[in-house]
Amino acid sequence: MAGRAVAITAPHAMVTTGHPLATEVGLRILDQGGNAIDAAVAVGFALAAVLPEAGNLGGGGFIVYRDNAGAVSALDYRETAPLAAARDMYLDSTGNATDRSLTGHLASGVPGSVAGMHAAWKRFGTLPWATLVAPAVTLAAAHVIDSSRAAAIAGDSARLGSFPASASQFLPDRHAPARGTLFRQPALARSLRLIADSGPEVFYRGQIADLIVAEMERGRGLISKTDLAAYQAKWRTPIRLDYRGYTVFSMPPASSGGVTMGEILNILEGYDSLPPFGSTALLHLEAEVMRRAFEDRNHWLGDPDFVQMPLERLLSKPYAALRRGQIDPARATPTPPVATGASEGAHTTHYSIVDAAGNAAAVTTTLNDGFGSAVTVTGAGFLLNDEMDDFATAPGKPNMYGLVQGEANAIAPGKRMLSAMTPSIVLDPAGRLFLVLGAPGGPRIITAVYHVISNVIDHHMSLGDAVAAPRLHHQALPDSISLERGGFYPDVLDALRAMGHGVREWSYKAHVMAIERGPTGWIGVADPRSGGAAAGY
Ligand code: DON
Repeated sequence: MAGRAVAITAPHAMVTTGHPLATEVGLRILDQGGNAIDAAVAVGFALAAVLPEAGNLGGGGFIVYRDNAGAVSALDYRETAPLAAARDMYLDSTGNATDRSLTGHLASGVPGSVAGMHAAWKRFGTLPWATLVAPAVTLAAAHVIDSSRAAAIAGDSARLGSFPASASQFLPDRHAPARGTLFRQPALARSLRLIADSGPEVFYRGQIADLIVAEMERGRGLISKTDLAAYQAKWRTPIRLDYRGYTVFSMPPASSGGVTMGEILNILEGYDSLPPFGSTALLHLEAEVMRRAFEDRNHWLGDPDFVQMPLERLLSKPYAALRRGQIDPARATPTPPVATGASEGAHTTHYSIVDAAGNAAAVTTTLNDGFGSAVTVTGAGFLLNDEMDDFATAPGKPNMYGLVQGEANAIAPGKRMLSAMTPSIVLDPAGRLFLVLGAPGGPRIITAVYHVISNVIDHHMSLGDAVAAPRLHHQALPDSISLERGGFYPDVLDALRAMGHGVREWSYKAHVMAIERGPTGWIGVADPRSGGAAAGY
C-alpha cells in the first residue's frame, strides 16, 4: 500500500477535509486572515452544504484545539437525548431493540452543531461570524455535485424518499442528482442565511427552532422548544497522555475516543518495541489490547454529567501494566460471546486544520448514520441525526456498530450518548505540534486513529503510508478481528485463526484526515479511501 496516498506539502498552513469544496473554503478563510478556528467554523458549515450525508446543522461533534502558545481545549457539542426520552423507548414488547433509533423522527437527539460552531468562534474566532457562514450559503444555493456525493444520495434514496422534505431536497424529479449537475438547496441556504444574521439564537429559540418542533410534531418525534432552548455546547478537559516521549491530546467523554485510544497506547507502550508491521505477532497483540480497551469502554463510559467514571485509573500506567499482564502472547482471550453483526456507517466526517501561526484544530462531526435519521426539517432544508442509536438502546445488546454497552450509556433525558469520535493532536518529544488527525467510522475511528499514530511513531512510516496502511480493528464484541480486505497475507490470517481469533475481512471507511509537521512546513493527507482533499499554502 506504500505510496497509495497523495501527500500535499505547504510551508505555512494546511487544511484537510472530506470534500474538496470544503477544503477550499477553509483555505480561503485562512487567506482572509482567519485562524484555525475561523477556518474550522467555515468548513463545518460548508460541509453541511456539500457533504449532506455527514456534514450537518442537525448533528453534533467534537473539537480538540491547540493554540500556538500550547493551550489545549476540547469542545463537546454532542447531541443530547430529548427530555421526553426514556430508557426503554426503542424496545418492542419482547424487549428487543427496534430500528426507530436509526430512521425517522424518534431517532434524533437535540442537535449541537450550531451551538458548537458558535462556542468555538466566540472563544477563539477572529473574523466576523457572518463571514464564516457566508461560503456555506453560496454552496447551499448551488454547487456542482461530484460523483461520490451523487452516489451517496443514490445509495440512500429509498430511506430519503420516505420523508417528503428529504425527497424534495435530495431527489429532485424523484432521482438523485447526477454528477456534474448543479445541486440546489434553497431551504438550507435560507437557514444558513438566518444563522449568519442571527447566530445560534434563531436555531435554538427562533424561526428554525419552530420548524424543528413542527417537524417533530409531524412525525411524532420528541424534540421540544424546551430541549432546544436548553442545549449547551460544553468545554471539557482534554485527555492527555504520554506515548514514547510524544504527547497525545484527544477527546474526553462524552466521547470514548481519547480514553479508549489512550488505554491502547498505554498498554502498547510497555513493549520496548512492537513486532514488525503486518506480522501475526503484531496483529495478535493489537487485537488483544483493543479488546481490553473496548471492554472497559463499553462497561464504564458515558456522559460525564450523568455517570462517574474511573478515568484516572483507566488511563494510568499501572492499570495498563495490569491489562498487559493478562495478554497471552500465544492465544486469543475470548470475550463472552453474543450473537451480533456490526456495520461501519460510511458517514461521519473529520477535518484537520493548521494555520500559519501554528494554531491547530481537529474536528469530527456527524449525523451518525449516512444522512442521519433521513428526516429533513421541512422548510429548513437540513437533515436530523440518528444519534440516539449511539446509546445502549438495549443495554447488553448490540447497536448498529455491534457495540455491546452497559448501564453507563443507557438513555436518560438530557444525557449525551457515548461517541467514539477521536479528534486528536500529537506533540513531538520537543513539545512541538506534530500531528493533527481524526476519522469517521463509528468504533473503527478509535483504532484507525491509533494505527496512524503508531504507524508514524513505532513503524516510522511517512504520513501518506501511515494513513494508507491496512488496518485491524477489534472492539471486544463481536469477538473477532476485522482486517482490511486484501491488506494482509493469507497465511497471517490463518495463523491468527489458529491462535483462537475469529477473523473477517472488512472494507474500511474510516477516512483519516491528517496533518504532520514536515521538514519545511506541513504535510497534509486525505485518506486515499475517501473523496476528500488536502491543500495548503
Ligand atoms: O459518535 C459516534 O461514535 C458515531 N455516531 C460515529 C458515526 C460514524 O462515524 C459513522 N461513520 N462513518
